[in-house]
Amino acid sequence: MNPGYSELRTKYSELIFEEVKMNSQEWMALSEKVVAHTYARYPVVLVKGKGTRVWDADGKEYLDFVAGLAVCNLGHCHPKVVKAIQDQAERLIHVSNFYYIQPQIELASLLCKHSFAKKVFFCNSGAEANEGAIKLARKYAKEKMEGDKYEILTMERSFHGRTLTTLTATAQEKFHKGFAPLTPGFKYVPFNDLAAVRNAIGSKTCAVMLEPVQGEGGVNCPLEGYLKGLRELCDEKGILLIFDEVQVGMGRTGRLFAYEEEGVVPDMVTLAKSLGGGVPIGALLMKDQVAEGFKPGDHASTFGGNPLVTAAGVAAVTAILEEGMLENCRKVGGYFLLKLKEMASKFSFIQEVRGRGLILGMELKMEGGPIVKQMMEKGILINCTMGNVLRFLPPLIVKKEEVDQVVNTLEEVFRGIS
Ligand SMILES: Cc1ncc(COP(=O)(O)O)c(C=O)c1O
Repeated sequence: MNPGYSELRTKYSELIFEEVKMNSQEWMALSEKVVAHTYARYPVVLVKGKGTRVWDADGKEYLDFVAGLAVCNLGHCHPKVVKAIQDQAERLIHVSNFYYIQPQIELASLLCKHSFAKKVFFCNSGAEANEGAIKLARKYAKEKMEGDKYEILTMERSFHGRTLTTLTATAQEKFHKGFAPLTPGFKYVPFNDLAAVRNAIGSKTCAVMLEPVQGEGGVNCPLEGYLKGLRELCDEKGILLIFDEVQVGMGRTGRLFAYEEEGVVPDMVTLAKSLGGGVPIGALLMKDQVAEGFKPGDHASTFGGNPLVTAAGVAAVTAILEEGMLENCRKVGGYFLLKLKEMASKFSFIQEVRGRGLILGMELKMEGGPIVKQMMEKGILINCTMGNVLRFLPPLIVKKEEVDQVVNTLEEVFRGIS
């Protein structure tokens, strides 16, 4: 039986003074009362994490192949990130961007050193990073392009965030419902169709924006030559190419940045999710000339790049680069892909297996939600997107044996339904 609200309140206030153990049911009951219902949550209350594992409020252990939806690329509570946060929290947590901020400068230097970028703007989330990219594309166009250009082309099945403008950039109708009027100035084209982009570019177009590998849209990889073709087309038309690497950046594909895979250099890249090893941070990486579009006062964020999150970011990026995570991602990711493809030859309801590095998708000919639930009961967290694509996003430190555990458990679940 669920406890009553007043009973929970009493326990909750006690929690502030002394540790009172509430079980999962009690936490969930309290959440239903006080937290906005914007998520259809699974009935799990996660309270602790270490590496590839998390634990719920009742002590049950899970192998985590969701990793906070590609946030915990380093695994949970990576010791270097924890130490950086502890040290920085004791020194300086926040100051205004009116002043120079040491860890912010260090993180920007690291990102510039390891990418095409010459300038970085920091914000707090993926949507904000994309919002910044969209604003900069328009501003840059006003100042540097001929005519009145403001339109941005985005791809069907894309996902760019939930602010009004980034959900407009997101070319999936289900996210638009109920929010009209949307931001003007976006046009949608099918992903992986170069000719469609060429046809859609008009006198108002200032940029093409896309995820180099689509995440929420079902783990869709670019066809060979597609990204290169887009770069050539944007150069030919004198417009900007923006890569949203919020989900696939920071090592997820086996390179620090997904654009490196095919050597296609965009004009801007947006990052967030795993950039801070788990703390909320976003970033817009820019070429020098493009960055000139923003003048002091054009764009800002109170918390953007604050000392605490950028100190965590420095630790996270350093760990990704120094601890062999990219190599591990490529090696274990390749093994995982092979194992999932082997499964596809055993179960006829698997439509396709695809992905890159450690962002892998298994498209089913049925709903994936019940599979996710059964895996969870067996102590494994996976995700489903687009209704029927099982998505696997383990931390980049994952071991082959853990992949085996997931594959074997998934086979067990599949055998139960076939
Ligand atoms: C590719 C991509 N862009 C943008 C976002 C939005 O990021 P945030 O939720 O941090 O605003 C997401 C989130 O899933 C994403 O996958």
